[in-house]
Amino acid sequence: LLRWFDQRATDYPWRRTTDPYAILVSEIMLQQTTVGAVVRNRRFERFLETFPDIESLAEAPEPKLLRAWEGLGYYNRARNIQKAARAVLAEHGGKFPSDPGTLAALPGVGRYTAGAVASFAFDKAVPIVDANITRVLSRLFDYHERVDQTSAQSQLWGWAETLLSSRNPRAFNSALMELGQSHCSVRSPDCLQCPIHDFCRTPDPASLPRKSPRRKTVAV
Ligand code: ADE
Repeated sequence: LLRWFDQRATDYPWRRTTDPYAILVSEIMLQQTTVGAVVRNRRFERFLETFPDIESLAEAPEPKLLRAWEGLGYYNRARNIQKAARAVLAEHGGKFPSDPGTLAALPGVGRYTAGAVASFAFDKAVPIVDANITRVLSRLFDYHERVDQTSAQSQLWGWAETLLSSRNPRAFNSALMELGQSHCSVRSPDCLQCPIHDFCRTPDPASLPRKSPRRKTVAV
């Protein structure tokens, strides 16, 4: 997996930095906006041009903050990054913590985002599980439980932790995610070219992961 990633890693702008603030911005931005939309419109770079560091974001007036987030939707995400920046200034002397538990106490930062900042910025051996990694792991272990269930979540995080390369956590987490965005895609898994094909247990990748049925949206 690491050899494959070393040779074909996509050159995303957030992979060119290890600044924890920039990593946090990218992860929050990518939570509800597709990678394609963020990259195409240079949203990550533009946000950092407007707010290059924690201080500039912490003191930004709300209209300016919302303008920098315009079109990305879910505006509370922008407000949360600002709250997190203020908390890093007030509680950590302006220096981002590297400990995942401490990171997870910041506003708007959950287990995934804390792990992403700890591993991508600080190269800490902390696992991450997002939708891409959930798909890769479910298929790798031929896991049929519904992945939104609490017990399934602990299983997936456990696997992510067990498999994690302690020598290269940053690359390992990025590689798993990229595998889910490429060969291990939702609709057309390309198992013949997959770098971990020999380890994969599922005979039917397209049927995994399994999720609980979504409640119908009712028009009002
Ligand atoms: N989506 C969310 N975080 C990402 C990352 N670090 N690289 C690629 N896609 C992502």
